[in-house]
Amino acid sequence: MSQPQQTEQVRLAQLGAYPFARLKTLLANHQANPDLLHIDAGAGEPRLPLPPFVAQTLANHLDGFSRYPSTNGNDILRSAIADWLKRRYDLVQIDPATQVLSANGTREALFAIAHALINPEAANKPFALMPNPMYQIYLGAAITAGARPYFMPCCRSNNFTPDLDSIPSEVWKNSAIIYVCSPSNPTGWIAQHAYFAKLIALADQYDFYIVSDECYSEIYSQQKPVGLLQVCATLGRHDYRRCLAMNSLSKRSALPGLRSGLIAGDAALLARFAKLRSYTGPATPLPLQHVAAAAWSDESHVEKHLTIYRQSLKSFFSAYGAGEVPAGSFFVWLPVADDEAFALAAYQQQSVTLLPGSYLAADDTRGNNPGRGYIRIALVDGVEKAAELGRRLKSVSI
Ligand SMILES: Cc1ncc(COP(=O)(O)O)c(C=O)c1O
Repeated sequence: MSQPQQTEQVRLAQLGAYPFARLKTLLANHQANPDLLHIDAGAGEPRLPLPPFVAQTLANHLDGFSRYPSTNGNDILRSAIADWLKRRYDLVQIDPATQVLSANGTREALFAIAHALINPEAANKPFALMPNPMYQIYLGAAITAGARPYFMPCCRSNNFTPDLDSIPSEVWKNSAIIYVCSPSNPTGWIAQHAYFAKLIALADQYDFYIVSDECYSEIYSQQKPVGLLQVCATLGRHDYRRCLAMNSLSKRSALPGLRSGLIAGDAALLARFAKLRSYTGPATPLPLQHVAAAAWSDESHVEKHLTIYRQSLKSFFSAYGAGEVPAGSFFVWLPVADDEAFALAAYQQQSVTLLPGSYLAADDTRGNNPGRGYIRIALVDGVEKAAELGRRLKSVSI
């Protein structure tokens, strides 16, 4: 089942072009409507005003640019992260020295973690489970780490839930890790407490690791999303055995250019991850680690952002006139007749860039792609642009 003889090059060849590269190809040789100002709703890049503390904190720590930063994150940042995790998830304990690491954005961490956790075990545990559609890094990480991706389809028919009950026990037995994304990019699905509790029990039963991508945890419509470590804590599992959670300042604080995120949980797994990264070395510069510590310590900017995202969603749907407000994230996952044709038409007719849903999903063994027939719209430019997007997309015809 495993393919230990595969070279990196062969593994890389299994990966298709990244969704944004595919989008570029789709739109190449076509012209956006020149009469309208272009709106980029393709990338999930928050474009909100900079939180007020950023400039001053950076100015106070400029001398840090003359030192090598620690890859694991300095003590100030790791303590700020641990304090945030405690406050946000009611954790009784989380040790900043052993249960928390800084990440240079979660993208690299989501990728590297597969290499730290899967490689030694791929021979007898070949599967890496992931939702489908998914944040594409899970797929790239699994394949380049020598694992076999196992897709959990998330469709209208299962309320976009990566269904744990549908996984055969043979697959659980042969699984090294599972990626969970809650709130989900792109579907907006949110995992409930019972979902994580069941998954933790399965991880114990079948001996695999859970990687929970919680980057959109602070962006939600009504119910504040529960986190994996929070569920561990309610189960009295204060060592977070087999569990890792990731989060990021890119979405929470609208600081995607800061490149700062966190990974927290099982100390033994984090030690493996830290060892790998001591060789690959993706450190966040020291002055930026101080900005990150300030961002984890402040909730007022996060609350302001949440108000903007909620109003943006409301404005989009009232202008567009159809569709469902997602439970979490700032993405609209909109059903359309043909996602590629819609993206192209939106670009040509309305000067709007959108991501076809099929680019975010993999074909299953029968050739079905659960992202086909959906378009992902990122509401990242504030309330007025969200309403404008709703109006423009309403008149797209394919
Ligand atoms: C689900 C999900 N996870 C992780 C990331 C990575 O974010 P960053 O590397 O900026 O922390 C993104 C970015 O779009 C995302 O959508």
